[in-house]
Amino acid sequence: MQTFDSELAFITGGASGAGLGQAQVFGRAGARIAVADIRAEAVDAAVASLQAEGIDARGFVLDIMDRAAYARVADDVEAAFGCAPTLLFNTAGVNSFGPVELTSYDDFDWIMGVNLGGVVNGMVTFVPRMIASGKPGHIVTTSSLGGLMGSALAAPYSAAKAAVINLMESYRQGLEKHGIGVSVLCPANIKSNIAEASRLRPAQFGSSGYVENEDSIASLHSIHQHGMDPVELAGHVKAAIIANQLYIIPYPEAKDALRQHFDAIVDSVLPLEADPEGARLRTEALMNWAANRTKVFTEADKA
Ligand SMILES: NC(=O)c1ccc[n+]([C@@H]2O[C@H](COP(=O)([O-])OP(=O)(O)OC[C@H]3O[C@@H](n4cnc5c(N)ncnc54)[C@H](O)[C@@H]3O)[C@@H](O)[C@H]2O)c1
Repeated sequence: MQTFDSELAFITGGASGAGLGQAQVFGRAGARIAVADIRAEAVDAAVASLQAEGIDARGFVLDIMDRAAYARVADDVEAAFGCAPTLLFNTAGVNSFGPVELTSYDDFDWIMGVNLGGVVNGMVTFVPRMIASGKPGHIVTTSSLGGLMGSALAAPYSAAKAAVINLMESYRQGLEKHGIGVSVLCPANIKSNIAEASRLRPAQFGSSGYVENEDSIASLHSIHQHGMDPVELAGHVKAAIIANQLYIIPYPEAKDALRQHFDAIVDSVLPLEADPEGARLRTEALMNWAANRTKVFTEADKA
């Protein structure tokens, strides 16, 4: 996708931070904007500010963990704009930090439910609609640098963010034939309201193993006030869509740590000389399976 004029962008978490930055940047580039967020008042404020600068924006209150509500909102978006989105931004997310060994089931269920489950729901809801529209499109999911490396203080968050990176790699391969590009954004630090995320935690996930209070929220603000401006970040996202780039990591401070991390993984792989015949047989078996299954899938597609 090279231009955004009259495209329709559906943005989860569009009422704040990175999502609002995306709404501003793509709206200013001519896209129509569907702002989806769990906070009704913030949705209204975001839509009003976008409309005030002449952007065709509408708001949709949605908890991305709720699959039935997601389907209803998708119908509402199509009814309101007369088409399915051509741009999908899975941006909404929450975090909560504490020692991995104190992490409760509720911590896992809420943090992974929003950051991974919410993305799964976005993809299962919108991908078939985007394919059915027959138009070229692009999907950008916001992961995190934390998704590329584990952390003893952010285990459920990092695990969810790792999963969505992998998921976007899979969708990118699968959606290319439909003319839909897929990218994954891995920010290090954004100037946003994510420090307040624990306030959004539903009562049903209330049994956290972590200490969450005004002090922990203030400590997170001390990090995020120095984060990248969301409009600047969305500018990188726009350039990456135009370049059809898979990974979007506009944070130079991440380069050395990532190189070390992935070098350690690659260095742990045995050299080919260690087992050339086994490697050949295993690779051949996998290639044959993939070739045969692809034929079956294609025939099933045609049927
Ligand atoms: N802030 C950072 O430093 C940072 C770093 C790496 C990745 N990220 C990721 O960036 C994305 C955007 O976060 P942000 O930093 O702009 O934070 P933010 O809190 O400013 O914005 C996130 C938005 O998501 C919404 N949201 C939360 N739970 C939701 C739900 N269940 N359904 C619908 N909407 C929901 C919130 O209401 C909020 O408006 C998230 O996925 C986050 O994990 C942020």
